[in-house]
Amino acid sequence: MSRGRVLITTAYLFPGGEVDRMLQSAGFETTFSKYQDRLRTGEKLTDAVADVDAIIAGTDAFTAEVIQAAPRLRVFGRCGVGYDNIDVAAATASGVAVTFTPGANRGSVSELVLGQMINLARMLPQNIAAVRAGGWEQRSGRELAGSTLGIVGLGSIGKTVATAAIALGMTVVAFDPFLDEALIETSGVRPMSLEGLLTAADFVSLHIFLDDSTRDLIDRKALALMKPGSFLINTARGEVVDEEALADAIESGHLGGAALDVVRQEPLPADSRLRQFDNVIVTAHIGAATVEARSRSSVMAAKQVIALLDGEPTPEHLVNADYLTAAGALTERKA
Ligand SMILES: NC(=O)c1ccc[n+]([C@@H]2O[C@H](COP(=O)([O-])OP(=O)(O)OC[C@H]3O[C@@H](n4cnc5c(N)ncnc54)[C@H](O)[C@@H]3O)[C@@H](O)[C@H]2O)c1
Repeated sequence: MSRGRVLITTAYLFPGGEVDRMLQSAGFETTFSKYQDRLRTGEKLTDAVADVDAIIAGTDAFTAEVIQAAPRLRVFGRCGVGYDNIDVAAATASGVAVTFTPGANRGSVSELVLGQMINLARMLPQNIAAVRAGGWEQRSGRELAGSTLGIVGLGSIGKTVATAAIALGMTVVAFDPFLDEALIETSGVRPMSLEGLLTAADFVSLHIFLDDSTRDLIDRKALALMKPGSFLINTARGEVVDEEALADAIESGHLGGAALDVVRQEPLPADSRLRQFDNVIVTAHIGAATVEARSRSSVMAAKQVIALLDGEPTPEHLVNADYLTAAGALTERKA
């Protein structure tokens, strides 16, 4: 007999895969509902969640409306670090635990950042396009060694990027209001104000969570402070950058280029100005899209979902410990 139903919306998970097998052998039924499938069939997310006990969540928007349409729901296992697509307050109010998978993808995102710094500094996309078109360009790029990397958000991914950049001979400065002082003493990273970092860095790389304190953090004023010819790399969330101001800064030649793995509207609209520039590299939110990170992240999410459905109230990576208060109140009300 089934012990409950788990909905899986993470696009890269599939029936018969590792996570499906884990859930089924723990006694749970699984249903897969992907955004692309729903787009094709017209099924709504509110319909898909109606009879589920848990959700292994991709990047779909789990709004208050969707959460309220899921009366049996007890836990979200978000496959990833950013859980800004889940209305955590609504989940908490409904007694639903929200778990996530910190650290599972830091290596993959950091490697993408390193690759994008080299792409930007050596103008690789432009060079490849020119050769493909029959040309043979030899413009001068820049070395990473000796240049300054400014990291905004020195958390799990930011620290991994910092370590690799220092190994390459870069000077690393960081802005983080909750800076780990012990780390600063041992890592060789220099703490700075955001303004100081923007004016000092040849590369600015964003590694912050999206919330009200970081939305539009890199606005027109911040972009104007950036060093002429410097580069912006965003693998955090699109909403932390003012994209119109960024397009202006690229068009005017103030910035040397940008690499954006995340944009405000994903997929990037066909008419976005960001498509016009050969020194703006937009990738399709692939920071964590490696076999290794996906496996680590989804197995971690599934383990936490199973633990919670098995009655362990506080799995390791719980976003909303206060869900228990509401869950208790709801149980009492039902009893
Ligand atoms: N592109 C991708 O595929 C991908 C994959 C994983 C994570 N991400 C994004 O990367 C972000 C960072 O991930 P992480 O694992 O390093 O998270 P983390 O929580 O370990 O680190 C975030 C850091 O930002 C700092 N911070 C908070 N507010 C700040 C502010 N106003 N200014 C500067 N710093 C601030 C925190 O103190 C923390 O050190 C995630 O929140 C997610 O949005 C993207």
